[in-house]
Amino acid sequence: MEQTALMSAIASDTLKGLTSSPKYLLPRYFYDDRGSRIFQKIMQMPEYYLTNCEYEILMTERDDISSYLRDKNDPFDLVELGSGDGTKSMVLIEHLAKLKSDFRYFPVDISSQVTDDLEKELNEIYPSLNVHPLIGDYFEVLDELKEMTLNRKVILFLGANIGNFSDKETNHFMSKIGNITESGDRIMIGFDLKKSPEIIMNAYNDPHGHTRDFNLNQLRRLNRELGADFNLSEFEHHSEYDPESGDVKSYLVSRSDQVVHLSYLETVIRLIKWEPIFMERSRKFNTENIRTLAEEHDFKVEKNFTDSRGYFIDSLWVKR
Ligand code: AVI
Repeated sequence: MEQTALMSAIASDTLKGLTSSPKYLLPRYFYDDRGSRIFQKIMQMPEYYLTNCEYEILMTERDDISSYLRDKNDPFDLVELGSGDGTKSMVLIEHLAKLKSDFRYFPVDISSQVTDDLEKELNEIYPSLNVHPLIGDYFEVLDELKEMTLNRKVILFLGANIGNFSDKETNHFMSKIGNITESGDRIMIGFDLKKSPEIIMNAYNDPHGHTRDFNLNQLRRLNRELGADFNLSEFEHHSEYDPESGDVKSYLVSRSDQVVHLSYLETVIRLIKWEPIFMERSRKFNTENIRTLAEEHDFKVEKNFTDSRGYFIDSLWVKR
């Protein structure tokens, strides 16, 4: 997305969220440079088990996963949505390259810095690998992909990012995937699983305060980019897990009656004491939820890959 388009998207999404009842902000705006650095810290905390679990899965199952992805060894296009710095997917890409698989790699990320670095690194190690970074929001890039790749497609959507979508966004995302895929194409999605609520709560209410900083950083970003005057110390971070729905919900709760000016939007919003702003959903799944989601969108679960503790699943689906 161009810088000006991104500005108007953040402006209109923020205005809509903060004038709704209840108020909300969108998780996609967590990731400015500072937010991405805080997220790196979250991923390194022992309490945030998700990253290690997925890394373990990819390390131990890379041979098996690769044989599904390579299928009969015909050429394929590997599209990775939200590649980030590629630390986890690199395990798979290196393995596929070592096996001399015939594939092109399309990392998709909102940040060109990230995909440029990844492309450079891969070109140095595997000069013959075709890397085609695509910059943008994955909802938009998915539309472009249909014409761009004629080979069999394999899509990676790792990191439990699907858990941050609302049900409506999940359906929208899956129908876009449906539009660009054909029978025999595959997608592998990372799902965080339901587990002991205590373990989940420690990941989202961490003792280091990184998750709190991550949430507050979005207000800092709005102060900078929309000329807002949020007073960060007047907000308390609160996360809760509902074992029935599997939703972790994160909020910033106003400690006092506040008036916030959004000067670039020429708007004022009011928060009453203890009013929450809903920041993020991080949904947890079970295998039944995963199977239903696949089948509702014309995919079949080919294999679920899990870690030794059974905390996380990378679920490989094939289009019917
Ligand atoms: C990116 N996403 C999968 C993370 C999650 O677990 O929902 C974002 C995050 N929010 C708080 N901690 C991590």
